Amino acid sequence: MTSALAKITNYPANPVDMFKQILQADAKSHPDSVVVDMNLATLDEEFGVLNRTVIYRGLTPDNYPFYITHRYTRNFKNLQANPKAGITFYMTNVQDNDYKEVTWQVRLIGAKAVELPDSEMDALWAKEELVSQIRGYICPCGEPINHDDLKAKHDKFLEEHLASGKALERPRSYTAFKFEPQRWDFLKVGRGEIADRVQYRLQDNGKWESMHVST
Ligand SMILES: Cc1cc2nc3c(=O)[nH]c(=O)nc-3n(C[C@H](O)[C@H](O)[C@H](O)COP(=O)(O)O)c2cc1C
Repeated sequence: MTSALAKITNYPANPVDMFKQILQADAKSHPDSVVVDMNLATLDEEFGVLNRTVIYRGLTPDNYPFYITHRYTRNFKNLQANPKAGITFYMTNVQDNDYKEVTWQVRLIGAKAVELPDSEMDALWAKEELVSQIRGYICPCGEPINHDDLKAKHDKFLEEHLASGKALERPRSYTAFKFEPQRWDFLKVGRGEIADRVQYRLQDNGKWESMHVST
């Protein structure tokens, strides 16, 4: 039996640079996995709090993480009613600088959701896979469905789309949110270790203060 303490070393002054470093190490450690999942928790009138997995789509030009959704989802309605959100990323078996495998949890604390301007949505829509585009048209998110009915609707939609020879238009429901956090929290742990955390706290002067915090 052994025990050790993890240590996060040489972390950059800016949390977004730290996040990019971890994403790079994760991508290098898992070259075949193409998506980064993020868990998004929102305030919900019915359930108090509600979380779900969404796809991390990258950073906006002003360096905030963003995801894509539709205006008919509960996550959209929740964020519109109350933009406060909590977010976690979880990356396992990531190769550390010393070739050890570690786990990272990245947490955005006190994040404020800001909807991206409509002018940015066409470019994002154009990059979507056909399957994602069709889902945006045919799925009544969260409502009970009959598989056979939905399949018939899907197959008809696909057939008509292919026959039209045209690109699918962006539906009005298609949108995205970026998240502006008050704190970024990075937890690293290896096997047999007590985790270390580095937390970045946004100061009133707009600068980030960073510190190790206990796990
Ligand atoms: C791997 C994965 C990725 C997902 N990505 C998204 C996404 O990017 N945007 C989204 O709105 N829903 C995404 N979903 C679906 C959500 O988890 C959720 O089921 C849906 O948005 C409805 O949630 P709501 O009722 O809380 O709004 C994803 C689900 C999984 C499993």
